[in-house]
Amino acid sequence: SMEVFTSIKGLRNFLDQQLSQQKTIGLIPTMGALHEGHISLVDASIKQNDITVASIFVNPTQFNNPEDLLKYPRTLEADCAMLEQAGCTAVFAPSVEEMYPEKSSLVINFGPLESVMEGASRPGHFNGVGIVVSKLFHIVSPHRAYFGQKDLQQVSIIKRLVADLAFNLELIVCPTIRETDGLAMSSRNRRLNDAERAIAPHIYRILEEAKSSLEAGKDVKQVIATATHAFNIIPEFKLDYFEVADVKTLQPISAIGTAGTNAICVAAFLGPVRLIDNVVF
Ligand code: PAJ
Repeated sequence: SMEVFTSIKGLRNFLDQQLSQQKTIGLIPTMGALHEGHISLVDASIKQNDITVASIFVNPTQFNNPEDLLKYPRTLEADCAMLEQAGCTAVFAPSVEEMYPEKSSLVINFGPLESVMEGASRPGHFNGVGIVVSKLFHIVSPHRAYFGQKDLQQVSIIKRLVADLAFNLELIVCPTIRETDGLAMSSRNRRLNDAERAIAPHIYRILEEAKSSLEAGKDVKQVIATATHAFNIIPEFKLDYFEVADVKTLQPISAIGTAGTNAICVAAFLGPVRLIDNVVF
């Protein structure tokens, strides 16, 4: 049955035993409140590795909004049940004290990658992500680590992190899992009330319409204006950004490039909840 560790030492002992038997390790870093999107990463890891470790840690240093941290859903028991059901080998669910026994002043700056979109809207966010993910990589030393395309900018940041700090692991990026109405699964969705939940699928609809328009040759500026208007006429939304960007650099582009190099990224508040989504084409 699945092992649950709250201490780094306990997890390390377990993993050292596994490594001595030449087992390969897959890691899925999460903040819990798990849904099918997270489980798709677990499934991918189980296929590719002998043992799969999921971490559950609501990392305070990546929250720039105290309210968002306070209201972030915490459902450890249900999470462990889902992970066990999926066939996960071990869970690492440390306390804040275990992960941050002392206040650290370490700073990681990702330069242009973090000066746009999520980085611009959430100062310090990617510093917190970069440090906690580095720490998890050191604690678990996985052969492979799994991340979702749902957080496209996070994927770019972690790619840089792995290259710049020579982490000896393979990054696996998995597709965004959606509800049947198109809404990207997110732990924050459970903070939406019924009315907000009913409106939320417009995010993906507007993304898909923008994608079609761009593929049909419409001007990038015009498409952004149309999408912005589509958000503005739904009073429950407060659009944060709507960007057409190069999928590698995440810098805004004024004309789309070849297939697979273009991304449309959006962040919007729906009531108090900030949701993000993207499409790559
Ligand atoms: P969290 O938001 O819990 O997401 C954990 C992983 O699940 C991330 O790689 C994310 O991209 C992926 N994920 C979330 N929703 C998804 C969906 N609908 N489809 C596919 N994958 C999805 O991202 C974080 O936590 C944190 O920043 C973390 C990396 C754990 C560092 O604290």
